[in-house]
Amino acid sequence: MRTTITRAKKIRGAVQLPGDKSISHRLGMLGGIAEGKTIIDNFATSQDCHSTLSCLRLLGTPIEIMHGTQISIRGKGLEGLTASKEVLDAGNSGSTIRMLSGILSGQSFVTRISGDDSLCQRPMKRIITPLTQMGAKIHARKGNFPPLSIEGGALQAIQYSLPVASAQLKSAILLAGLFAEGETEVIEPSPTRNHTEVALKEFGVEVNIRENRIALRGRQRIHAIHTEVPGDISSAAFFIAAATLLPDSEIILQGVGLNPGRRAIVDLLQKMGASIETLDQLQRGGEPAGDLRIRSATLKGGKISGEQIPQVIDEIPILAVLATQTHEGLEIRDAEELRVKESDRIKSLVENLRAMGATVEEFEDGMFVAGRQSLRGSLINSYGDHRIAMAFAIAGLLAQGETVIEGGECAAVSFPEFFETLSRLTVR
Ligand code: S3P
Repeated sequence: MRTTITRAKKIRGAVQLPGDKSISHRLGMLGGIAEGKTIIDNFATSQDCHSTLSCLRLLGTPIEIMHGTQISIRGKGLEGLTASKEVLDAGNSGSTIRMLSGILSGQSFVTRISGDDSLCQRPMKRIITPLTQMGAKIHARKGNFPPLSIEGGALQAIQYSLPVASAQLKSAILLAGLFAEGETEVIEPSPTRNHTEVALKEFGVEVNIRENRIALRGRQRIHAIHTEVPGDISSAAFFIAAATLLPDSEIILQGVGLNPGRRAIVDLLQKMGASIETLDQLQRGGEPAGDLRIRSATLKGGKISGEQIPQVIDEIPILAVLATQTHEGLEIRDAEELRVKESDRIKSLVENLRAMGATVEEFEDGMFVAGRQSLRGSLINSYGDHRIAMAFAIAGLLAQGETVIEGGECAAVSFPEFFETLSRLTVR
């Protein structure tokens, strides 16, 4: 499907964002292995999170969608999941396949899990290595790619230093650790989002955190809860960028998750000169949240690298677009992980920015996007990557002429309401 975007004057209005994708995956999975009925309010509308729910259903977990985005999960406890005759389908979702593999490693049956073409190109060795050390037997295409076949069994706890700063990898090991004998400990090279740790605690699991070490004892009981998911800050980022860049804009984003491992996009833009105010500090399901007011501002630009990268990893597509409008441009380094996301995001960004007439230099681990550039409308290849489609929809609001996004419907992977919300806020 082709989606056409034209230049906008400004954006205005208030939005309640759908539930956070990262948090919803974790709450769904833990709900499935908890004892009792878990109710989750504002569960993500994202297709990825619904892939997680479909997989859990195939493993014998009854899940009901109640009113709109409230869901209820009848948890099966640590021992209660059952084998699926069908191959589980994780769709486009790296979080589903990687984190669920941790749970599947603790089961006394074999599970096959796969996904779409993009997911089948993404590396799984990073989870296969530690889960195999714990006792699971995992087969993968070329030892690295989905489909996976996971033969679970009695697991042993491990102590594991992550070779990449990945929250999905950390979470896979911690979830497997719930089924293991002894204490599992994960050591992070640099901080990543801690939603798994927060969610585990909400479900009554004792988790010990000392600096960059996260440990939990296996075989603890997981108690069902009633909880609520905050709005997705990674979805918010597209509107934060649009309101910042389009003159005379003002928007309010309600109930946005502001977890310290995710709010770096807000802090970074504020440092560059953005006008983002937190109006209310709230708590949603153990996670900090708040209402944000964003007004237009001019941005300096600069450089992001090193430990900053995992903190803004999902926001780099919109940051690269936004960089074209800064004073000094933006250099992005140490971001080679972008090459193994839903698309090779370095290539997708560089090609599409160039198609819009922007000057960009590509590096193996990032790019430099020059500032003060005018964009011209163009045909954009989304590469089936939701965040590329949404980032270039925002670029289209700034560009002269028409921008056509090829495959724009993939926005539904994280944010099905994106284009509708954007057109409601846009003033032309
Ligand atoms: C996620 C972690 C990140 C992020 C992804 C969601 C999570 O991936 O890019 O969109 O929910 O834990 P990695 O763990 O591969 O860095």
